[in-house]
Amino acid sequence: LVRFVVFASGSGSNAEALYQAVQQGELRGQLVGIVSDKPDAYIFTRAKDWGIPLIAVSPKQYETKDAYETAVLSILEELQAEWLVLAGYMRLIGPTLLAEFDGRIVNIHPSLLPAFPGKDAVGQAFAHGVHVTGVTVHYVDAGMDTGPIIAQQAVNVQATREDTEACIHTVEHELYKTALDQLWNEER
Ligand code: GAR
Repeated sequence: LVRFVVFASGSGSNAEALYQAVQQGELRGQLVGIVSDKPDAYIFTRAKDWGIPLIAVSPKQYETKDAYETAVLSILEELQAEWLVLAGYMRLIGPTLLAEFDGRIVNIHPSLLPAFPGKDAVGQAFAHGVHVTGVTVHYVDAGMDTGPIIAQQAVNVQATREDTEACIHTVEHELYKTALDQLWNEER
């Protein structure tokens, strides 16, 4: 089984969906740890009973991005991580992590890329008045949400931002596990 680490900066609902999917045999992979750049993120509360290492690495404690990523890298080596799964990790992956995990880093983004990359994709969708937005699972490269697309699903924009976000989250939780299971088990 693929050994994967989830990177999360926030609530961690996608991390939880992946954890549950592994538990239920719907995602054939092994979740070996959670890494967060935010020591007070809700993901740590959510995941406290999952029985896997939960690791906070605060970029502020390092002089450079390279030093931060080198510290993360040594944790990933300890965990024997093979794939990095970004789930609300609000930071660009730099050359240090890319060099080690090239082609084995995936991200989920709340829009139909290449529309609305970066922060607050749902807010961007509202600002543009689109009627349809969606979710994209993609490989991570050096750009901001620019890597090759793995899976996409459309979501209708709802009357409110809250309702739209709820629909997007529901789609995300299903799409991420399905896309990863397919990616990691293609030859079977
Ligand atoms: C998700 O909607 C994810 O697509 C988005 O952050 C949210 C995290 O939710 N990611 C980005 O915007 C990345 N640019 P979660 O913490 O509940 O999984």
